[in-house]
Amino acid sequence: MTVETKGLTKYYWMGKEKVVALDGVDLKIEEGEFISIVGPSGSGKSTLLNILGCLDSPTKGKVFLDGAQVDYRNKRSLVILRRKFLGFVFQTFNLIPALNAVENVEYPMYFNKPLKSKSERKEKAMKLLALVGLEKRANHLPSELSGGELQRVAIARAFANGPKLILADEPTGNLDSVTGRSILDLLTRLNNEEKMTIIMVTHDFESAKRMGTVIRILDGRIQEQER
Ligand SMILES: Nc1ncnc2c1ncn2[C@@H]1O[C@H](COP(=O)(O)OP(=O)(O)OP(=O)(O)O)[C@@H](O)[C@H]1O
Ligand SMILES: [Mg+2]
Repeated sequence: MTVETKGLTKYYWMGKEKVVALDGVDLKIEEGEFISIVGPSGSGKSTLLNILGCLDSPTKGKVFLDGAQVDYRNKRSLVILRRKFLGFVFQTFNLIPALNAVENVEYPMYFNKPLKSKSERKEKAMKLLALVGLEKRANHLPSELSGGELQRVAIARAFANGPKLILADEPTGNLDSVTGRSILDLLTRLNNEEKMTIIMVTHDFESAKRMGTVIRILDGRIQEQER
């Protein structure tokens, strides 16, 4: 999926105080790119990711996904966009505690029409767990998995509906550096094999540089785009 923004701006109002989270962001991301966004705390990284992921709406400016302008007023179309084309990975994994690994991966498939039967969903979920090397942990609850395993389940879940764009907000933020490295390797491999676009927020500038394009953000503005 290609991603383009024009003059993307986001203000939050805290009473009468205006917080400028994004200040005219112009981005152009090609199909299949692996983009890392780096920048200090409070610079607007999560705000940018949430708007691209249709979880939040901009104050001003435009977003184009595969060339089509996102209509942030049309909530129904945002839900459909998210379900059909987007996958999310979060720092805190956000798995459902009462569901085991394979059920967590199956969950988003409920909302996607093409996979109707339970057995079809289970089969697809097991394939995705195998893709992240966790087929032996399918029946484990989140409380019975390590941090790195939890994030691998979350990545498998993000792939449930065959997304064209993966948005990952500090996916290694809660992991030790070795486990974090393995998660970055996994994302790189999936980016190469499955060809979807990945946009990842990270504090790990050295790893980011090895993976592809790095976008630096400061005070809601893009500083530079290094390829
Ligand atoms: N819901 C909100 N209401 C008001 N202000 C907000 C809200 N969300 C974010 N902000 C402010 O917008 C700015 C950008 O926040 P954002 O979460 O995008 O930063 P970030 O770069 O992701 O930081 P971090 O690295 O700490 O996660 C910050 O100044 C923050 O305080
Ligand atoms: Mg953030």
